Parts: sequence; C-alpha cells; structure tokens
Amino acid sequence: MDLLSIDSLSDDQIETILDEGERWFEAARSGSPGDEGLRGKLVFNLFNENSTRTLMSFATAARRLGAGVVTLPVERSSVKKGETLEDTVRTLGAMRPDALVIRHAENGAAHIVAEIVSCPVINAGDGTNEHPTQALLDALTIRSHFGRIEGLTVAICGDIRHSRVAHSNAKLLPRLGATVRLAGPPDLMPEDLPQSSIDEAVEGADVVMMLRVQRERLERELGDAPGEYLQRYGLTAKRLARAASHAMVMHPGPINRGIEIEDAIADDPQRSLIMRQVEYGVAVRMACLDLLISSS
Ligand code: NCD
Repeated sequence: MDLLSIDSLSDDQIETILDEGERWFEAARSGSPGDEGLRGKLVFNLFNENSTRTLMSFATAARRLGAGVVTLPVERSSVKKGETLEDTVRTLGAMRPDALVIRHAENGAAHIVAEIVSCPVINAGDGTNEHPTQALLDALTIRSHFGRIEGLTVAICGDIRHSRVAHSNAKLLPRLGATVRLAGPPDLMPEDLPQSSIDEAVEGADVVMMLRVQRERLERELGDAPGEYLQRYGLTAKRLARAASHAMVMHPGPINRGIEIEDAIADDPQRSLIMRQVEYGVAVRMACLDLLISSS
C-alpha cells in the first residue's frame, strides 16, 4: 500500500491514522514516545526539495518506532550529476528499504516512484499537487483541539494555487465533515475556483489556516510593496476578529515572517496551533509508517 494522495486512503484507514496518531501524541506527552514495533525495518528519505518539519518528523517517527532511517543527501548525490528520478529510485529500491518517503518538485513524482519500487511509498509533497500527511496532521490537530471535525468551518487562505497542503486538506477535511473555504489573492487562486475574498472566507470560521506564498513556484514576482501583502491578504488582528471568537489559527510552516500572518498572532499560544501541528506531525507520521509497513 502507498500513501500518494488522500484518495489512497479509505475512511477506515483515515480513522485508524488519526486514532493511532492521537495515541502516539499522548504517549510522547507522558514520556514514552515510542516502541519497537518497526524494529529491523528501514525507511529511506528522498527529499529533492527543502524541508525542515516534514523531513525531521518522518525521521523522528521512524526512529521512535525502532526503524532505521537513511536520508539521501540530494545535494551531494548523483541527482546533481543528472541522474534521472527513475534511475535514482531504481537504485534505492535495489537496497530493499521497507518504505520510501519522497518529496519532489514535480507533480506526480510520488506516483512514478510507486510504480518502480515494491515497498510502500509515502508522498511527502509533490510539486503543487498533494501533501497527504500534512493534511492528516492538520485534521488531527483540529480534532484534538475542538473534540471534533464534523460541522467546523475551516478557512484556508493564501497561495492556494501552489499549495499541495491546501489541495490535500480540501480533499480530507470535507470527508471528515468540515466545510472548507478557500481564498487568496486573484493571482494565487486556481483558475477553476470561484474568487472569494479573504474577509469573506474568514467570517465566522472556526479555523483559519494561512499558507506561505510559494515564491519559488511563482512565474513572476507579485510586485507587492513591503507590508502590502499582509494588509491586503494576510491574517491581521483586525481580519481575525471576523472569525468566530473561539477561532484558532494554523500554518503548515515555514512562515514568511511579516507577510501572510502577523507575528503576534502566529506566536500567541491562545490563538495559534502552529507548534501543536508540528508535534502532531511526528505522531501522525508514526501512525502512517506503522500502517503502511505493517500491512505490506
Ligand atoms: C509545506 C510544504 O512543503 O508543502 N510545508 C510543510 O510541509 N510543512 C508548505 C510550504 O512549504 O509552504
């Protein structure tokens, strides 16, 4: 079994991952963060794009389950000699890992990898397409804070066009009974989606999830003056006041400081779940690795 998209998962598997993720989160909080369930197993990380949270949390998750982790240092690998993704992955597959975690700039890269190797493949972000484990950790962060997902309204705001996080969340959260509103600057919205203003999306929302402007994927600069993006499209205290009074703020990270979200909001533990997302990231990835490797 592979985890390439939210569509790879049945409703039962989603529930299992969230329940097991919650269990691992609680276990870590009570001082016993893992077990030896994947002892003797080997997880390969192949990250062709930069990462802090996702890379570290997959490595931590694997280690906490007793598995070994090997991370290809892409910058010092034969990728830099021009080796194709297919050849790189055939080579890694011949070393017989028990799971391969891939992040790549091309949409569909994880699907290509899954065709080549026989072990489970986890998509840790492919271009602008999907990032299923991020959506799972977001869902669990929401569920643990509110005690439910069903009936909540989640506003996802910012660079929707380039956001694999938004795309996976827009699939997962409605399956769990939430209403998702997507809003962003006109240049950063997908062409096939109706435009809605950030203010409209935030109005009465239970969760406001802000996204980073993915400048590395922009064809041309936005041309925004310093501070302009924040005032027009970012999460300011004034804009957050439109949301429900109990609303919580999320962001997958990394934050562009001073651009998509005001620092005071991002850093306010009463309003922000951002560090909680990171904590749940490890727990959810433990659940995913366990499910995929144990069932293969
Ligand atoms: C996101 C990603 O890489 O898609 N980050 C993450 O995985 N936590 C979002 C982003 O880079 O903006």
